[in-house]
Amino acid sequence: MSSFFERDGSHEDLLAASPEAKEPPARLPRRRLTPASILPWFILGFLLVLSLWLITLTREHSNQQCARRLSTPSPALEAVEYHSTLFNGSLTYPSEYRGVPTSEIDAAWDRISTVVAFPITEDELSNTGKPARPSLAKFVDGKGYAAELEVVHQLHCLNMLRKFTYPEYYPRGEDDPDLYRHHIDHCIEMLRQQIMCAGDVGLITFDWVEGHSAPYPDFNVWHQCRDFGKIQAWHEERAEGTPVGLAGPTDRLKEAP
Ligand SMILES: *[C@@H]1O[C@H](CO)[C@@H](O)[C@H](O)[C@H]1NC(C)=O
Repeated sequence: MSSFFERDGSHEDLLAASPEAKEPPARLPRRRLTPASILPWFILGFLLVLSLWLITLTREHSNQQCARRLSTPSPALEAVEYHSTLFNGSLTYPSEYRGVPTSEIDAAWDRISTVVAFPITEDELSNTGKPARPSLAKFVDGKGYAAELEVVHQLHCLNMLRKFTYPEYYPRGEDDPDLYRHHIDHCIEMLRQQIMCAGDVGLITFDWVEGHSAPYPDFNVWHQCRDFGKIQAWHEERAEGTPVGLAGPTDRLKEAP
């Protein structure tokens, strides 16, 4: 870099401009900006922008890398983005999913918990660690194995439990009470395994609150959350144009997995 300064004399000019310099002010007009004198600053600026861009790029890259390293393999990982989110833990937080059943509340749940099967490729299947056994269901066009997203099934289970708590609004599987009981218990088990698997180690603090004799837990805790909307968009896009039906079985397992 020094050669740039020496060749066009800007180094001397900088010295000349300092207040202690004894040079007459008549030399000042020589400090005109010429293409050669701007060039080093231009390069410096360019390098600065380049490094900022690279830092941003590698940070995004490592978020994706981390998600891939720490998650179950899935093609939907490409849609995973993280955001800091403050949970609302107020006892009476009026969420759109909560309350005595209405058609709006049902619609809100349906938007997040409707299980839709979509096709996955042979590679996407083998990445999950599951063997491509002949009993696996495929779509009619033979272009993919049928799959659904865990998160949607988990929400479906939670919705079942919600409905279970409002027996006056939602009919219970009266024709086969045992199967219904199994279904509910299965949902509790799935959510228990998922919650223990996630092992959320966020911290809940306590406040002394007027009118309460014991400290009150503050469930409004910051979380690093996956953007659910992005996952939903991926799900919709993948499910779009899914062939209408499944191909008939070519093989069957002896019992349910
Ligand atoms: C939670 O929701 C309630 C009711 O809408 C609101 O008053 C409260 O400020 C919210 N808490 C946080 C931490 O956002």
